Amino acid sequence: MVFLSSGKATTQSTLSVARTRARQGMTRGKWQDHYARRARDEKWLARSVYKLEEIDRRYKLIREGHLLLDLGCYPGSWSQYSSRKIGSRGEVLGIDLKKPDRFSAPNFRFLKADVLDLDPAWLANEIGRRDVVLSDLAPQTSGIHVTDTSRSMGLAKCALELAVAVLKKRGHFLCKVFEGEDIKELRGEMARRFAAVRTLRPAAVRRTSREVYLLGLSLID
Ligand SMILES: C[S@@+](CC[C@H](N)C(=O)[O-])C[C@H]1O[C@@H](n2cnc3c(N)ncnc32)[C@H](O)[C@@H]1O
Repeated sequence: MVFLSSGKATTQSTLSVARTRARQGMTRGKWQDHYARRARDEKWLARSVYKLEEIDRRYKLIREGHLLLDLGCYPGSWSQYSSRKIGSRGEVLGIDLKKPDRFSAPNFRFLKADVLDLDPAWLANEIGRRDVVLSDLAPQTSGIHVTDTSRSMGLAKCALELAVAVLKKRGHFLCKVFEGEDIKELRGEMARRFAAVRTLRPAAVRRTSREVYLLGLSLID
């Protein structure tokens, strides 16, 4: 018999289960994640909605009637949030390898594609100019730091190219990227294209995550 700090008695086998779960990453933090529970209660498709909400609250990126491009949109919480804010005059076009199967709305369209294969000029011609481009693109992580960081950077650079091709003058670009050596180069490239660039780490980003968001405000023509 072992006593935990709460004073409750538990058996050795209960502790073994807890240890096994902790080893597998199923820690208290993961099971009881505040944002995951909140997303479920508030009927958002993913906890990542709170990252966009925080940034949008601060910078007022998404407005009624806006035309948006949402890169890496599955399962759809960013599109879900945006489609509510833009109303019936706006449109979100989502692109992903996977079709969001739990989200649909009259002002949401989906294109199934690998962004790395998209020609920016073709996309601009196909979907027209956009007020805001969002990219929450993330590679399937391998656990190998350099590989994951370099894949994330590849996706972020691709998102920037697509954004520059489709954004209206003074449009905004928000992009996730894993922190690494090349982030300075990407930020520099964004600084040449946008009037202002911010590096953001919203509260909903997990403490252990290396992700940050780069925000390009007001595309320079
Ligand atoms: C973190 S999830 C996006 C979550 C989304 N913002 C939401 O709130 O529901 C990242 C997405 O990027 C997509 N993705 C990764 N690489 C891609 C690629 N080359 N082309 C298109 N989508 C890609 C993945 O399929 C995945 O759905």
